[in-house]
Amino acid sequence: MKVLLVGGSGTLGSAVLKELKSNKNNYEIIVAGRNSGDVRVDMSSVESIKNMFEQIGKVDHIISAAGSAAMKPIETLTNEDAMYSVQNKLIGQVNLVLVGQNYLNDKGSFTLITGVIKDQPIKMGSMLSMVNAGVASFVKGAAIDFERDIRINCVSPSVFDESMEAYGEYFKGVKPVPVANAAKCFIESIEGDMTGHEFIVY
Ligand SMILES: NC(=O)c1ccc[n+]([C@@H]2O[C@H](COP(=O)([O-])OP(=O)(O)OC[C@H]3O[C@@H](n4cnc5c(N)ncnc54)[C@H](OP(=O)(O)O)[C@@H]3O)[C@@H](O)[C@H]2O)c1
Repeated sequence: MKVLLVGGSGTLGSAVLKELKSNKNNYEIIVAGRNSGDVRVDMSSVESIKNMFEQIGKVDHIISAAGSAAMKPIETLTNEDAMYSVQNKLIGQVNLVLVGQNYLNDKGSFTLITGVIKDQPIKMGSMLSMVNAGVASFVKGAAIDFERDIRINCVSPSVFDESMEAYGEYFKGVKPVPVANAAKCFIESIEGDMTGHEFIVY
């Protein structure tokens, strides 16, 4: 079975890649990123997503471990920051689904990434709260629309132990989790029967 993993070179994506590679199902894995992986894609551009699928053709599972948003105090956030955040982590993943459904085999799945900040806000994190909630609600809504036994889920992890050095100061009071715990949920999502489900890792 062919799996597309967007963001496979990142902290989360590398952990998902490791789980996929060690899986007994012998997945054929295609890693995508803006500057890394087997194929180039910028999720914030629908044209770029279309080009990627034109290159790789049909797949069985599509995983997103990518997407960013602005992190700033509310007083300094601008319309550009809001548009960047929506265009990147929210619409980027939504477009991956909208375009990707045309390249997904029957019984295929999508697994998107959201995150703890939608439930446990942090200072300077309002854009991430917004887009994470959007991703989770999109998944719930889209799940009941799909035919051909296509499923869609999302994974909502806390900050990773492995990211605490970089982001720890922003996540005061938030209990970190090993990235491997989140990565395992992506495997559960593609191999299980769940749809419209949010795998919560906190
Ligand atoms: N780190 C955490 O503690 C944590 C906790 C909960 C949720 N999350 C969420 O998990 C996701 C990944 O986080 P991470 O810490 O693993 O990030 P990361 O280490 O910065 O990795 C991001 C990955 O996504 C790719 N990427 C970034 N923007 C892209 C775009 N527009 N189009 C295509 N690929 C893109 C990057 O590759 P290129 O640079 O080659 O494009 C890279 O492979 C994010 O959505 C984040 O909000 C992270």
